[in-house]
Amino acid sequence: MRTSLVAGNWKMNGSFAANASLLQSLLKGLAKLDSSRQAVCVPYPYLEQVRGMLNGSRIAWGAQNVSEFEAGAYTGEVAAPMLREFGCSYVTVGHSERRMLFAEGDVQVAAKYAAALGAGITPILCVGETLEERERGVTEQVVRRQLGAVMDKVGAAGIARGVVAYEPVWAIGTGRTASAETAQQVHAFLRGCVAADDPAVAAELAILYGGSVKAQNAAELFAMADIDGGLIGGASLKADEFIAICQFADELADR
Ligand code: PGA
Repeated sequence: MRTSLVAGNWKMNGSFAANASLLQSLLKGLAKLDSSRQAVCVPYPYLEQVRGMLNGSRIAWGAQNVSEFEAGAYTGEVAAPMLREFGCSYVTVGHSERRMLFAEGDVQVAAKYAAALGAGITPILCVGETLEERERGVTEQVVRRQLGAVMDKVGAAGIARGVVAYEPVWAIGTGRTASAETAQQVHAFLRGCVAADDPAVAAELAILYGGSVKAQNAAELFAMADIDGGLIGGASLKADEFIAICQFADELADR
């Protein structure tokens, strides 16, 4: 049985005051959920604040990027063991904004995934095609390549210790969600890629959908057989929206 997860991706947003008020609301609004997991992935400087407020609660926290290196002369980078010291349970790797704006490639993303695992942090591996790639009909090749690079590095056993998030680039921050059917097709394809290697791992793997998820469309997406929750950007900054999305995932969990 897979446990669904809803993770907020705050991106480069927040302030001490705004975070405190958002987290207070989440602590209240998510306290009664019991069938699914929730997490917030926040900018590095706020990890201590988030740890202080969420420690002992059922909400986990994490970062949005991690170095592939363990320590050393890598100015500006943050290593996985450091994130672990801040109590991070999760880190997103390979987000399309990192791939496109910061030129992260498949091999580097795979190394970051492995670094997270090495520190006992669950990596959330983001994959997804651009609009141009979808229109060219190469969606499956693209996501298979992105997932395959990680599988080559860590094997099915490593995939079992992470989470995958399918985020079509054309749906991120655009208000344009993939239809539940379109998303389901890619989720089933991704699960099939893992199943070709290890059916048991594939059956247990949480595959999240991300891209303009809101309270309004979450239930329909999460009801699909291979969608096990969401990675939520914009809507994770609004307490009511994020709580409602988490509630839908919780109701549809346990399958
Ligand atoms: P969005 O972002 O929900 O604002 O589309 C999702 C993401 O980038 O993870």
